[in-house]
Amino acid sequence: MKAFQPITIAGITFRNRIIRSATYEGMCDEKGFPTAGYYSTYEALARADAGGIITGFAYVSKEGRAMQPAQAGIDAPDKIPGFRTLTDKVHQYGCPVILQIAHTGRQTIRRVTGLPVRGTSSKRSVYFWEKPVPFSTGEIYDRINKFADAASYARDAGFDGIQVHAAHGYLVHQFLLPGINNRKDEFGIDPQTGIGSAFLEKIIGSIRHRCGNDFPVFVKISGGINDEKHFNIDRFSSLIRILDHIRVDAIEISYGTMDYPFNIFRGEMPVNLILLRNPLFKTRNPIMRSLNKAIIDLWFRPRLLPFSPTYNVKYARLAKTLTCIPVIVVGGFRNPGEIEEALTSGSADLVSLSRPFVAEPNIVSKMKNDRNYQSLCKNCNYCAVMCDSGEPTKCYKF
Ligand SMILES: Cc1cc2nc3c(=O)[nH]c(=O)nc-3n(C[C@H](O)[C@H](O)[C@H](O)COP(=O)(O)O)c2cc1C
Ligand code: SF4
Repeated sequence: MKAFQPITIAGITFRNRIIRSATYEGMCDEKGFPTAGYYSTYEALARADAGGIITGFAYVSKEGRAMQPAQAGIDAPDKIPGFRTLTDKVHQYGCPVILQIAHTGRQTIRRVTGLPVRGTSSKRSVYFWEKPVPFSTGEIYDRINKFADAASYARDAGFDGIQVHAAHGYLVHQFLLPGINNRKDEFGIDPQTGIGSAFLEKIIGSIRHRCGNDFPVFVKISGGINDEKHFNIDRFSSLIRILDHIRVDAIEISYGTMDYPFNIFRGEMPVNLILLRNPLFKTRNPIMRSLNKAIIDLWFRPRLLPFSPTYNVKYARLAKTLTCIPVIVVGGFRNPGEIEEALTSGSADLVSLSRPFVAEPNIVSKMKNDRNYQSLCKNCNYCAVMCDSGEPTKCYKF
């Protein structure tokens, strides 16, 4: 099967075409340094045949930390030795590992970062709700440098490459989206393409300048968002053409923003768990609890998209018609047949999985042994909700 054949992209040899998509680990200390659990999570994946690994998102600066309290950080050179330990451990199994780097922009809370929430514009996220302070033009250049710094620390720590997180409504995505980006400076929406790509383009240019052209740079994007009025297939196509033009090394295609987080994952929305563990919704006050439940039931639930297998393939297929850059597709792959279909139909070059690896770190070995294997993951999304609670990421069903 094509799924189990190796593939080399930008000098990185993936052992097979089923790789781990970025998945927050919840296993770093309060300063973003990896702990023993972080290492053992990745060793388990590498030992058990994952074709390659993309780590959970690591913040490029404290201001860009996520709400999740045990996130990795790659914001200073003192982080290099801890991540060097990680890359050494993973490489001893012949598995490549790519660090995902991110800035949350408006998708965080001051309570966690200790700093004002910053963003592309002052528009609030309907989920996080804090009003962001827009960056000045000069400050944007400073944040571009933070991405380049982070990439250079990742390179020095022995990562095979980095992935810029330009999906899921985080800062780079906030610039891309016309519904959020109302800037009038050079980082605003380009009337030709309908998206605001200057921030992403300058980040890639700056990483190339700092790390050299042979250090692989992947980008994760969202094929669509809830609000089709502001990001449609034409704008998605523009984004692919831009990524093609600036020659990133691979494009991973996901969906959505954290405004409607469950549409990134699809599946169940476990309301009681959210009310109990999510810092944005949990409260001891019974009236507030009822109010929060009503917000979830009346606002978020009606906007929930149903889970369907391989739900982002249509975007990947379109991307493949617009670029020769390798395409990775994530979202709803649960058995070897679905993966093989995406690969042999030419819809993608690699398939990445998140929850199936949370449920079974050795899922690729199981799929190799049984071509009809079906992931145990039932899309209950307990792991996704528990991310926000401070607990290490694990499967709550098995
Ligand atoms: C617990 C959990 C943590 C996640 N953390 C990240 C992350 O750090 N960066 C990212 O780009 N996507 C993250 N995702 C999204 C996944 O990479 C993936 O896009 C999504 O779960 C759909 O894939 P799946 O159906 O294989 O789970 C996370 C998903 C889950 C369930
Ligand atoms: S908790 Fe387990 S079964 Fe539920 S979505 Fe996460 S990995 Fe899948």
